[in-house]
Amino acid sequence: MENPFEEPPIRDALRGRTPYGAPQLDVPVRLNTNENPYPLPAAVAEAIEKTLHGLLRDVNRYPDRDALALREDLAAYLGHGLTSANMWAANGSNEIIQQLLQVFGGPGRTAMGFAPSYSMHTLIATATATGWYESYRNASFEVTAEHAKAQVRVYEPDVVFLASPNNPTGTALSLDVVEAVASECAGVVIVDEAYAEFARSGTESAVTLLPRFPRLVVTRTMSKAFAFAGVRVGYMAAHPRVVEAVQLVRLPYHLSSLTQAAARVALAHASTLLTQVEAIKEQRDRIVSRLRELGFKVAESDANFVLFGQFDDQTTVWQKLLDRGVLVRDVGIAGWLRVSAGTPDETDAFLSAMGELA
Ligand SMILES: Cc1ncc(COP(=O)(O)O)c(C=O)c1O
Repeated sequence: MENPFEEPPIRDALRGRTPYGAPQLDVPVRLNTNENPYPLPAAVAEAIEKTLHGLLRDVNRYPDRDALALREDLAAYLGHGLTSANMWAANGSNEIIQQLLQVFGGPGRTAMGFAPSYSMHTLIATATATGWYESYRNASFEVTAEHAKAQVRVYEPDVVFLASPNNPTGTALSLDVVEAVASECAGVVIVDEAYAEFARSGTESAVTLLPRFPRLVVTRTMSKAFAFAGVRVGYMAAHPRVVEAVQLVRLPYHLSSLTQAAARVALAHASTLLTQVEAIKEQRDRIVSRLRELGFKVAESDANFVLFGQFDDQTTVWQKLLDRGVLVRDVGIAGWLRVSAGTPDETDAFLSAMGELA
């Protein structure tokens, strides 16, 4: 009998789409998903193991629905006088973004971003039936305060996304851009700071603006700086009323007790984990200067990755790197590729392959 559900009756907005995701290829040097290249230090992994071991006896019970202890630790980590009432946590910052759009976006509402930027912002807008306006960055991948403000005035979006440092370009925004947008926008302004810990000195976090703008939200993740991508912990800092609003859409017990406990142990070891960040920044800066020496164009980066080009056809270069055992990311910007900063050995492999292609 013919299966009547061969073509599932999915929403028009999703029909014909493919799921998001970078190729997960088995190659020696994987520099395509902006992960932290270092495993958790042994002392941190052991402390997490010990905590989880004790906790496993209690997993017949649901976790703390409000993740209060974790939120207190996250507030202490960010500082700036934030408390647990300002914080919210979920399974990765992607889930935070989804919850924000479920509350502040949705049918009949719109969000906007400045391309090229993190494609999940657009995809989550589609998934939550939020309309999307795409504005653009200039040729240096920057956004000026005047441009951003003017675009917000034109589109009047319910939600504005500003990524800083931006993925895939690495570009950080100066706080005057965030201030200009937050002053102009009647809706919610989300500053996605997934890569904040990798910023060069002098780049300030939008967290410092929270007391002045009650509809400003700063999203962060433990996936990158804390080498915790596999655990899935993202969080946000915002006005307590925004945090309360997000709780209207969170699933009950969304963040497992194991995840909450593991994240708390990692936060207790923040200073150890952040020394890895310094090592990654060194490799990032090495990539930038060596690629420039080789004659390539490189976007300024405050993140753990570098956008480089300019190629007649970036797909050929992507393949040539893969042939040499190095996987980078073709983010779909004509002429450009993105590489994550790896360990010194991984970075050596990438740079020597690029030397052959120069
Ligand atoms: C700009 C940006 N925001 C958010 C995320 C999501 O990270 P996660 O869901 O692992 O916290 C990423 C991941 O690459 C990102 O690049």
